[in-house]
Amino acid sequence: MITLGIESSCDETSAAIYANGEMRSNVIATQAIHEQFGGVVPELASRAHQQKIWGTVSQAVQEAGVSLEEIDTIAVTNGPGLMGALLVGLSFAKGLALRLNKPIVGVNHMDAHIYANFIDEPKPEFPFLSLTVSGGHTQLVLVKDYFEHELLGQTRDDAAGEAFDKIGKMLGLPYPAGPVMDRLAKEGNPQAFSFPQSLLEGYEFSYSGLKTSVLYHLQAVNEDKRETYIQENLRDLCASVSHAITEPLIKKVKKAVREFKLKTVVLAGGVSANYMLRTKMEALAKKERFEFIAPKMAYCTDNAAMIAVTGSLKAERGLIDDLSLKPFASL
Ligand code: KG4
Ligand code: ZN
Repeated sequence: MITLGIESSCDETSAAIYANGEMRSNVIATQAIHEQFGGVVPELASRAHQQKIWGTVSQAVQEAGVSLEEIDTIAVTNGPGLMGALLVGLSFAKGLALRLNKPIVGVNHMDAHIYANFIDEPKPEFPFLSLTVSGGHTQLVLVKDYFEHELLGQTRDDAAGEAFDKIGKMLGLPYPAGPVMDRLAKEGNPQAFSFPQSLLEGYEFSYSGLKTSVLYHLQAVNEDKRETYIQENLRDLCASVSHAITEPLIKKVKKAVREFKLKTVVLAGGVSANYMLRTKMEALAKKERFEFIAPKMAYCTDNAAMIAVTGSLKAERGLIDDLSLKPFASL
């Protein structure tokens, strides 16, 4: 069975071919245009998707060594994401489904981040916990079986990735700041500054307090000395902020593992690429005796491989759609 995956929910145009349990290609065209604006500009994202989609899909097909006619299923992200961006991928997928006379499968982008953990071995065993941390979401999800999910809790305000990006911006880092902060944090001291860690009841998260606290911390430095201060303390600031972002995540994972007696925990979403988070999860897994699984780096941030594998898992279970499939902007 050959599945084509298409992803266009935000600022990555991506296509992948998943054939008989093997990821044969995963082409990702990142839109550099947004960097100069310090964030994703929806209208520009839609236009860039439109320009790149055919090239990306044809490259994925070519790299996989298959022909368009051999594709059995077309999987496409239908939300959540930017409406105009989603429409490009979805309309393209519909056109192709019509032309090839093949079924279309709508894939939830957040689900796909979780099922990215099913691309390689070892695959997680049900039930498991997913800490889904991306630019738009921070969620703890109890995954009971294929596509049987219970949301335990999520963020009340900013997502973890958003916190990295917004605080990074205050420190003068380019967008997206998450990966840059990650790199700098490795050379810094996470205990250098004590920033507040939100510890809400249950499984909820909040990052707005941390954001404000870093802002006040920087504003306390005389304006003409601020840039020098940031430069001199950049690594320690990044490490301390990363510590404050990751610590609540780890504590809630520990709570959920104990409460639901879970044996497996997976990471999902762009922030799962974060070194400090992965290291802390590894340590917690050892202590609490659960299996910790994370996608390989290429499958952490937005990609179509995760869409292809999720679409394939859905199609195997008869969860297919038709040409009336609609996009949705938020959950
Ligand atoms: O999943 P993703 O690619 O897109 C969304 O669905 O949102 O996640 C993007 C987010 C951005 O906020 C980015 O800064 C963050 O993931 N991110 C990271 C790292 N790599 C990406 N945050 C921290 N450390 C990283 N290594
Ligand atoms: Zn994503």
